[in-house]
Amino acid sequence: MNVLVERNVECTLRDGTILRVNLYRPTQEGSYPVLLTRLPYGKDTPYAYSMFDPVAMASNGYLVAIQDCRGRFSSDGQFGGYAQEFEDGYDAVQWAASLPGSNGQVGMFGASYYGFTQWAAAALRPPALKAILPFFTYDDPWNGAAVRQGAFEWGKTAYWYLGSMAPNEWIRQHLAGGVDPAEWRRLFADFDLLGEKGYWQLPLTEFEPLKERELLPGFFAQFEHPEYDDFWKRLSILHRDEGMDVPSLNVGGWYDIFLQGTIDNYMRMKKRGVVTQLTIGPWSHINRSGFVGEINYGFAANAALLDLKEDMTRLHLRWFDSMLKGKSTGIEEDGPVKIFVMGENRWRIHPEWPLPETEFTPFYFHSAGEAKTSVGDGRLSREVPGNERTDDFLYDPADPVPTVGGNLLMAPEFQPGPRDQTTVEERPDVLVYTSDPLLMDMEVTGPVRAVLWVSTSAEDTDFVVRLTDVHPDGRSIPLCDGIVRMSLRDPNVRTTLQPGEVYRVEVDCWATSNVFFRGHRIRVHVTSSCFPRWNRNLNTGQSNEKSARYTVAEQVVYHDSVRPSHIVLPLVPRS
Ligand code: BEZ
Repeated sequence: MNVLVERNVECTLRDGTILRVNLYRPTQEGSYPVLLTRLPYGKDTPYAYSMFDPVAMASNGYLVAIQDCRGRFSSDGQFGGYAQEFEDGYDAVQWAASLPGSNGQVGMFGASYYGFTQWAAAALRPPALKAILPFFTYDDPWNGAAVRQGAFEWGKTAYWYLGSMAPNEWIRQHLAGGVDPAEWRRLFADFDLLGEKGYWQLPLTEFEPLKERELLPGFFAQFEHPEYDDFWKRLSILHRDEGMDVPSLNVGGWYDIFLQGTIDNYMRMKKRGVVTQLTIGPWSHINRSGFVGEINYGFAANAALLDLKEDMTRLHLRWFDSMLKGKSTGIEEDGPVKIFVMGENRWRIHPEWPLPETEFTPFYFHSAGEAKTSVGDGRLSREVPGNERTDDFLYDPADPVPTVGGNLLMAPEFQPGPRDQTTVEERPDVLVYTSDPLLMDMEVTGPVRAVLWVSTSAEDTDFVVRLTDVHPDGRSIPLCDGIVRMSLRDPNVRTTLQPGEVYRVEVDCWATSNVFFRGHRIRVHVTSSCFPRWNRNLNTGQSNEKSARYTVAEQVVYHDSVRPSHIVLPLVPRS
């Protein structure tokens, strides 16, 4: 079928605001389901088509509607952030269903923010919305989008506001008076300096690139809400999607910034008995190829030829043909859970997440008190510790542990994915616990969490835990990690620590799927920073976002019979 494109079609919302849409329609008369995406990155930019070819979809019998969100690019209104997408999404879905040529059924697609715009619309249950296909998106801002167990997601937030949101906002503010090219260049110069300089600014509330230009007040509003209060709950799917029953195909990446949100969205729907599927590749937020970080997972991992079977447009076609047209496309055979197992480098299908056969197994920390660095005496084993000395280190916010790889979306100096941790493991503020070389292959697939017994000299501080796979050549490849801000280990109430008191705390390291091969070693890091990914805890008990004063913290990690710090690994028996 040939396809006609209508540009800047107007969609009027309930408050009269006009959002604009590019509409791709089959030229053949008929009534078709509508596939809608709502993005803040420009309907006329390649973001709109990164995983989905609108012409191909329209020629397969869909109306495709690509919409600029409120206050972005061609659409009217003021951009107000995530909260606007609930009602705007509802209205856009119902508008799409009423388009000439529509059969009244709507599906939504898109990644990240425009994965979120699908959930936000679905949460309000617009009657016409029949299926969604969110890629790489979150459920709750405190589950890694803005905050992770109390620690502010500084690396991605500063990058996203400055690089993805500020330029269009700035143009909109200056268009009437004429855009000054020198000012425009200065904005990007600040963006270019983020990795080297911007991230280091204290306090965060004075972040010059946005403050000086009076851009995006939502960025600063976050710092006024250090606890998990209504400000955050309003932006969350969790508190608003009661009764949501729209089928979803959730696609995520082991190194994606929204990995856990993607999994949790799937799990919540599964628990409610709503049709849902989960697919996870070895990808980061913007790299969906087969080569991620420093590891080549092979061509079958590449989203351009998924499992050597289909590209992403065809995946969309099979999902929506099944959900909106009732066709038999075999999509359910790809689920409910399809994961890429790293190491072994192959796709596998499972009936549930976590896998039903998982044996959650504690691996305990051991040492004679010198577990600092990879050449220290830290060991990791299934044996419960007896009487063992503690490990200690100093955490200095002026010299934090640098971010090397992981689930990142940051300034280009900080590339995501599996990247050798050797330089991190040379630092005296990183405790390293390593197993003996494995005698047999060992698969770890599922959620990973650590249980720490710790004390500190500070009134507040952070603990970071990371799981790595140590290859026989010495490379230590990170699989997953997490952080806990001690004052916010209960997110609803901020507490002050008693210096010297021992606390039991859990660190959610999200999830992975990896086969540790025979001869490899399992390794765990315990430290107190990963900067600039997470904002530094200044160790003073004062606001880490509003103050610039910091102090060094003396950290202690306990591993004895009554305080057996450990990591819990989801072991999957090998057949
Ligand atoms: C994204 O749409 O890619 C995005 C949204 C929020 C934070 C970071 C990234």
